[in-house]
Amino acid sequence: METAKLIASKDYTIGRTSERLFGSFVEHMGSVVYNGIYEPDHPAADENGFRTDVLGLVNELALSVVRYPGGNFTSGYDWKDGIGPKEWRPVRTDVAWRQIEPNTFGLNEFMKWIGKVGADPIMTVNLGMKGIEDAKNILEYCNFEGDSYWSELRKAHGVEQPYRIRTWCLGNELDGEWQIARKTPEQYGLLACETAKVMKWLDPGIELVAVGSSTRQMATYPEWDRKVLELTYEHVDYLSLHNYISKREADTATYLAMPMDMEKQIREVIATCDYVQAKKRSGKTMMLSFDEWNVWRAPDVEYTPWQTGSPYDWVRFRMEDALVFGSAMLTILRHADRIGIACQSLLVNTIPMILTEKGGAAWRNPTFYPFAHVSRYGRGQVLRAIVESPKYDTSVYTDVPVVDTTAVYREEQGEATVFAVNRGDEPLLLELSLRDFGTCRPLEHIALKHERLDAVNTSAQPLNVSPARETGTFTSKDDHTAVLLPPYSWNVVRLATGESR
Ligand code: AHR
Repeated sequence: METAKLIASKDYTIGRTSERLFGSFVEHMGSVVYNGIYEPDHPAADENGFRTDVLGLVNELALSVVRYPGGNFTSGYDWKDGIGPKEWRPVRTDVAWRQIEPNTFGLNEFMKWIGKVGADPIMTVNLGMKGIEDAKNILEYCNFEGDSYWSELRKAHGVEQPYRIRTWCLGNELDGEWQIARKTPEQYGLLACETAKVMKWLDPGIELVAVGSSTRQMATYPEWDRKVLELTYEHVDYLSLHNYISKREADTATYLAMPMDMEKQIREVIATCDYVQAKKRSGKTMMLSFDEWNVWRAPDVEYTPWQTGSPYDWVRFRMEDALVFGSAMLTILRHADRIGIACQSLLVNTIPMILTEKGGAAWRNPTFYPFAHVSRYGRGQVLRAIVESPKYDTSVYTDVPVVDTTAVYREEQGEATVFAVNRGDEPLLLELSLRDFGTCRPLEHIALKHERLDAVNTSAQPLNVSPARETGTFTSKDDHTAVLLPPYSWNVVRLATGESR
């Protein structure tokens, strides 16, 4: 049997995970909102029209932040259409997704919903069709303490206390040809800078995210990022990254290796930020907001345009998608020193963690589980581990480690968690050399695995791909523990560290 080794010391850490690394994304897109989180006619809907069955699943994810209302949708959206009495709200066309927006769910509905989730909002302002004035007005409506037109309107809408929303995205993917009112980096950088000034003058407590390149494949990457940062550096707090990892025609071995490109992307964006920091002789280190990340595969349901709540990119993810998704999460964790925000995209029905049927069931996609595990057991000090692994080559990648693994020290719990993806078709023994932790005691080994890599969860078989506790997989070798990872599996290995005994 092949063996891999993870060596880590308590004293060598990458950094503490930011509280906002465990986020997701709700966009007015397809059936994410309408017929997703919000379906007033559903038997499980509460008095607000929120599906309580969906809320129950969302709460298992322990989300820390949720980005809203888009995405591409934001660049054509007027947030004012979604406030006030519902009978006065206009029905609009949304050209980003070619759908009908009834505006029966808007800002205040979202804030009520997120209150039930227990997460913080991240708001995206429209820097496509709108601009500085609109960004100032929504901030004043949400956060302003004093008496002003917009804050009084909020109160008139039944919200006495300001929401105090801390994080705001200055538009979305404005480098993209598909974006409503896309811009050159010079146009966007100047607009983002001027918007940032006005927003921070109104509320100095906020944090702002500038739009970075939409993908690593953009012809303008990473020059877009450099130019935008040169125009905004001292006015913003984060630069955004997006990545949707897609198998398309690739073989499984290649697909499982694709998060290695995400690793490159993160390093390249950090390098770009640091270049601008050096050029400006700035004392400020730019943080990253990975505010859209996921795996992507072709939808299982055809989209019908010009409807409300028609499923868009409604996909049953496969077991293999969950492995790639897990690797992507670990890649983000390993950059805990620079990534301050991360949002899986999207939460419900569009390449989602949670699938629903209109009027029917809600259930977990396989990708739900790695997220829930990392959200629950991955908050702490990410360890600067050394990993020795057998490697493989594919038609695209060379030297792909068979095991992708990361360890997190959860001091308060007196626990270390080792997450691991076994990319191989054979069991793999992972030796854990956790130094300076005292004698570690195995607590549990959870694995997500299936004999078929194309296995899915359906409303009839919602638990077909679901994690289970492994037994008999721990062994002791010399003075350290080893754990047996099943073929093609996502693993959570929990250990009590010496101090807690
Ligand atoms: O699938 C979500 C969309 O993907 C977002 O609206 C956009 O930002 C990205 O291109």
